[in-house]
Amino acid sequence: MAKFEWDNSIALGIRSIDEQHKALFDWVNTLNDSVKRGDGSKEVEGLIWKLITYVTRHFTEEERLMLACNYPNLVSHRREHDQFVERLRNIQIKFLDGHQMDEAILDFLVDWLVCHIKGTDQSYSRFIHKQEEEARSPNLTLL
Ligand SMILES: [Fe+2]
Repeated sequence: MAKFEWDNSIALGIRSIDEQHKALFDWVNTLNDSVKRGDGSKEVEGLIWKLITYVTRHFTEEERLMLACNYPNLVSHRREHDQFVERLRNIQIKFLDGHQMDEAILDFLVDWLVCHIKGTDQSYSRFIHKQEEEARSPNLTLL
């Protein structure tokens, strides 16, 4: 897997979330480096565990944000999160069963994250920005 570098094309404009997304890719890159170096299974296992822990915390944070602004697509967004965590857990179980962590798995993680951020995350980000804009603009309705 080529090292994934975060750039503005996947920025949401929500600072805390963008920072978390950068950290997510850092975790995937760290895992990739570890696999490429041929680290022992204990190291790789630890990194998979840390990645799952971080992903779960990040998804909870996003869902809290969506809930706070009454985002209408929270349920379907959460479903995508849950499916990804389930995939990660399956990858973890397979690894613990002796399967190798190969390039295809790491590519899948990066592809899923990029696709999710550019599509599903962008839509809640647009919703939040629109709400903020509306809150800032004066009410021009004449009574
Ligand atoms: Fe998300």
